[in-house]
Amino acid sequence: MLEVAGVSKLYARRAVVREVSLKVAPGECLGVIGPNGAGKTTLFNLLDGTARLDGGAILLDGNDIGRLPQHRRAQAGIGRAYQVPRPFSGLSVHENVLAGVMHGPRLHGAAARARVAEILETVGLSDRRATLAGALPLMDRKRLELARAISVGSRVLLLDEIAGGLTEGEVLQLIEVVKRLKPGRAVLWIEHIAHALMAAADRLAVLHFGELVAEGAPEPVMHSALVQEIYLGIAVDDALDS
Ligand SMILES: Nc1ncnc2c1ncn2[C@@H]1O[C@H](COP(=O)(O)OP(=O)(O)OP(=O)(O)O)[C@@H](O)[C@H]1O
Ligand SMILES: [Mg+2]
Repeated sequence: MLEVAGVSKLYARRAVVREVSLKVAPGECLGVIGPNGAGKTTLFNLLDGTARLDGGAILLDGNDIGRLPQHRRAQAGIGRAYQVPRPFSGLSVHENVLAGVMHGPRLHGAAARARVAEILETVGLSDRRATLAGALPLMDRKRLELARAISVGSRVLLLDEIAGGLTEGEVLQLIEVVKRLKPGRAVLWIEHIAHALMAAADRLAVLHFGELVAEGAPEPVMHSALVQEIYLGIAVDDALDS
């Protein structure tokens, strides 16, 4: 169980994440939405140790990991996938994932190969195992990015706008992959594509100016007056700017 307890982050004395509290259980996907600059990515940076906490605590199965350096958070079970995949381009798909299972769960030999095969099956890359990562089309690089994120044994999976650049059909495939990653993992997914979160998320959290302003079942949150107003407000501002 991941428990985020009143975390805050200041940049130039401005709170970009302000006392945010959340709980995400294994097997659950929390969709995270909010306008540009709302603090979504910063929240993830606090969770994986990319950014230092200015307040609050991050508990994973009751242990406070909020002050651990990034590599220790990864060891503790925090995994992350980025919008722009970062594989080892010169290594095969199999080797990329093997590096993760050797580094994280420290598996070797047949056990490592079996674990890699299982992960590639989960993300739908079994038939690409020998392909060089650098030669994969975008959708398969996204699959590999997810495979690498779970290969180290992550129990919390942070997905930050991973659908970027995909076609509509590919987004549907990605949703299916994310759903397959849920068992045994707490998944947090930032995405601007509403239907993707409606399909994969069990709950939605809404950030606005660094604050958690709504949380609950996807349907009512997405259609709430508050969320409509937040996004409408952005549209109006954009209209005024142009
Ligand atoms: N390293 C940093 N130094 C200073 N300010 C930062 C830093 N990182 C983020 N910010 C500021 O914090 C605020 C929140 O940014 P963040 O990237 O978390 O937003 P976001 O919700 O992920 O937005 P988007 O939807 O555009 O990705 C923004 O005002 C941003 O400019
Ligand atoms: Mg962001």
